[in-house]
Amino acid sequence: MRVLVAGGAGYIGSHTVVRLLQHGDDVVIADNFSNSSPLVVDRLRRITGRPVKVEEIDLTDTADTKALMRNAKPDAVIHFAGLKAVGESVTNPGSYYSVNLRSTLSLLAAMQEAGVYCLVFSSSATVYGMNPPVPTPEDSPTSATNPYGWTKVMGEQILTDIAASHPQWRIGLLRYFNPGGAHPCGAIGEDPLGVPNNVLPYISQVAIGRRDYLSVFGDDYDTPDGTGVRDFIHVDDLAEGHVAALHRLTTMPRSLDVWNLGTGRGTSVLELRAAFEAASGRPIPYRVTARRPGDVARSLALVTKAERELGWRAQRGLLEMCQDAWRWQSQNPDGYR
Ligand code: WQD
Repeated sequence: MRVLVAGGAGYIGSHTVVRLLQHGDDVVIADNFSNSSPLVVDRLRRITGRPVKVEEIDLTDTADTKALMRNAKPDAVIHFAGLKAVGESVTNPGSYYSVNLRSTLSLLAAMQEAGVYCLVFSSSATVYGMNPPVPTPEDSPTSATNPYGWTKVMGEQILTDIAASHPQWRIGLLRYFNPGGAHPCGAIGEDPLGVPNNVLPYISQVAIGRRDYLSVFGDDYDTPDGTGVRDFIHVDDLAEGHVAALHRLTTMPRSLDVWNLGTGRGTSVLELRAAFEAASGRPIPYRVTARRPGDVARSLALVTKAERELGWRAQRGLLEMCQDAWRWQSQNPDGYR
């Protein structure tokens, strides 16, 4: 299969490209490198020994996106491209709505024009809002607590309406829980710009000495050690989930479906810190600070639907995730810079 990977130079995109290439699919990456490095592409070629085409493009430009789709002639599209920092979305909501929704609309218009009807969309567990049942099934109501989250809820709604309008569409919405880790070779990984928003890259930067200590946002939650509990999933498990979803689309009876990608297992912030200390052999000092507004006590995926329908389940454990994240961080202390 020939797959156009929008945002394929980013963290989850690049790991998915490796899995697609290893699976024998051909890949065209479309990226504007706004939050990723062109260096990724050579590393993907090196890891897989396979060619990867790259198009530098702003997907909010519909004419350019249509031209790309005509030239690339993919069988399917995976759409990772978008802005993803929750805090930044609160201070700059206009650009989040503009970039995330316009890129999705552009891709859809270009796909429709080119007669490409298979799409896998990067969504997020953030669409479950503040009070979902835990573990959370896919049919829980959706809502959001910040503009970034709303762009995912709205993106899902647009895709749901498009899929209903035309029976030829095959669209898979993948709701990621908390991705972490890196490819075990250490050549690609997460490279956040500025101060990391997420706990795992933050811990990793403390271990390498770029940050002094981890701020633990609250230890008075109703959880075993009082700190937030999350469903951390290895990025390579997530990548394999995309390959499984893509191939499910070809036999799917409905025009749209949705799957959680998580492990179903919970890890607290302090447990994660301890696992990273064990994996890295480095101390991770921490201080407990106030709760972060908008955080929930626990977030866990119900994973049975993906297991049943995609034949996929996460294989890798917490320690492996921390070891792989550490290999990437220690071999690339400044990321791709
Ligand atoms: C996890 C836990 C924090 C940082 C976010 C987005 C979500 C999704 C994934 C994309 C919480 C605690 C964090 C720190 C801490 N992104 N924490 N110190 O909030 O579950 O999900 O990323 O779709 O949309 O909201 O992940 O890694 O930010 O936080 O103590 O410096 O770590 O309070 O309990 P979260 P996170």
